[in-house]
Amino acid sequence: MITTTGLTKVYRSRGREVTALDGVDLHVREGEVFGVVGQSGAGKSTLIRCVNLLERPSSGTVTVAGTDLTALAGNGQRANAALRRARSRIGMVFQHFNLLSSRTVQGNVELPLEILGVSGKERSRKAIELLGLVGLADKAKSYPAQLSGGQKQRVGIARALAGDPKVLLSDEATSALDPETTRSILQLLRDLNQQLGLTVLLITHEMDVVKTVCDSAALMKDGRVVETGTVSEVLATPGSELARELFPVGGEASGADRTVVDVTFLGETASQPVISQLSRTYNIDISILGAAMDTVGGRQVGRMRIELPGPFEENVVPIGFLREQGLNVEIAPTGTVPTAAGAAALAPAAALVKEGAK
Ligand SMILES: Nc1ncnc2c1ncn2[C@@H]1O[C@H](COP(=O)(O)OP(=O)(O)OP(=O)(O)O)[C@@H](O)[C@H]1O
Ligand SMILES: [Mg+2]
Repeated sequence: MITTTGLTKVYRSRGREVTALDGVDLHVREGEVFGVVGQSGAGKSTLIRCVNLLERPSSGTVTVAGTDLTALAGNGQRANAALRRARSRIGMVFQHFNLLSSRTVQGNVELPLEILGVSGKERSRKAIELLGLVGLADKAKSYPAQLSGGQKQRVGIARALAGDPKVLLSDEATSALDPETTRSILQLLRDLNQQLGLTVLLITHEMDVVKTVCDSAALMKDGRVVETGTVSEVLATPGSELARELFPVGGEASGADRTVVDVTFLGETASQPVISQLSRTYNIDISILGAAMDTVGGRQVGRMRIELPGPFEENVVPIGFLREQGLNVEIAPTGTVPTAAGAAALAPAAALVKEGAK
């Protein structure tokens, strides 16, 4: 539904150059909720602004719903009109709502329809319908100042839906809201995604947002996408940084000569007593140093940091047992450093991750 290829954006100001996007290839499938995460300055907002051509990419292409927007940008009046039309099918939700304080709630939702030249009667019908959809039917005549933050964002979402978009873009739509309101707005986005078949691309710095609503996610760093996939794929990828951030597990080795590994449980494996089986089968004591469990997309997911007695070489067989059960097992980043032989045993997995990140 949304595809970018080699998307690059270089800002030039006062003789300095900032590469905000550095060859981003992104693929968002129709009907999914896709989350982009990354630290401040990673290029997330630049990416979303390039996707609807609010910002002109320096190079690369953006295709939304089969239309190559980059080909339309800036090539004469006819192309500009086509770009405007294409853009009206892309809704945008902002962190600070961007509502006009002098207009009523209904007036704010009608604004994009006025720009599209929709007649007064039809505008009003559509605005009232959309306000019903976001749960604000009774606020049509209120002004933004009379609304809570969550209600303002609902107006922002209703306005974004005015052009019957196929795609909704959201830049930190919930980061100005409290946790409870955040949940209700995320639920609304999820409902709209399902009811209207809307594809949603959202930017966030909150891992909880990804866990709660996203089907897929990408991690950005220094203008690049360094990891991407469905949330399940990401969790099943050895060495995934996204997985570590989604399910952070702490815990240090209790002494020398211990093996500390992080185990990821997905779906059915989450409910099986693999740790006690492991302990019984190999007659070893296992300590749980840290754990995180949650439900993602209706599936039980968890990560656990466990400690096995002895160095890595002595635990190759028990670790193999865990992998045979379908679990993703990796040496914990803060755990005991494996010896050369141990590192070699894990090398293929590490190489795979590097390939996947390209
Ligand atoms: N208009 C601009 N002119 C010059 N540099 C810019 C401009 N907009 C963004 N940048 C730079 O591009 C880089 C990426 O910025 P961007 O706003 O996309 O980051 P972000 O990931 O959205 O960060 P945050 O999480 O803080 O919102 C930063 O180094 C930023 O300073
Ligand atoms: Mg930003």
